[in-house]
Amino acid sequence: MKKIISVLLLGVAILAFAFNSPALAADAASGAKVFSANCASCHAGGKNLVQANKTLKKDALEKFGMYSAEAIIAQVTNGKNAMPAFKGRLKPNQIEDVAAYVLGQADKDWK
Ligand code: HEC
Repeated sequence: MKKIISVLLLGVAILAFAFNSPALAADAASGAKVFSANCASCHAGGKNLVQANKTLKKDALEKFGMYSAEAIIAQVTNGKNAMPAFKGRLKPNQIEDVAAYVLGQADKDWK
C-alpha cells in the first residue's frame, strides 16, 4: 500500500512539473505550423503584404504596441481592419502558440 501511494505521489510530481514547464504553456513549434497555415499568406518572412508598414518585425511591433503575447493574442482573436479574426478558426491554445512563435521570430529578426 505504501509503495502504491509513493508511486502515485511520484506521478503527481511529474505531472505538476510537466504542466509548469513554460515550453508547454505556449508551444512555438506548434505556433510555426499555425503560422504557415494561417498567417504566411499575408505575413511571409515577417512582412505584411497587405499593409507594408505593419510588419511582424520587432521595431514595428514595438512601434504599434504589439510587442507582447497579450496584444498579439487579442489581434489574432478579434482581427483588425484588413486582418481577419481567427476566433472560431483557431483554438485559444493555437493562438497562444502562434503569438509565442511571432515574438520568438521577431527577436531573431525572422532569420
Ligand atoms: C488577409 C491577410 C492577413 C492574414 C491572413 C493575417 N494578417 Fe496579420 N495583419 C494583416 C494586416 C492588414 C495587419 C495590419 C492591421 C492594422 O493595424 O490595420 C496585420 C497586422 C498584424 C500584426 C501587428 C503588426 C504590427 O506591426 O502592428 C500581427 C502581430 C499580426 N498581424 C499577426 C498575424 C498572425 C499571427 C496571423 C495568423 C494567425 C495573421 N496576422 C494573419 C493582415 C493579415
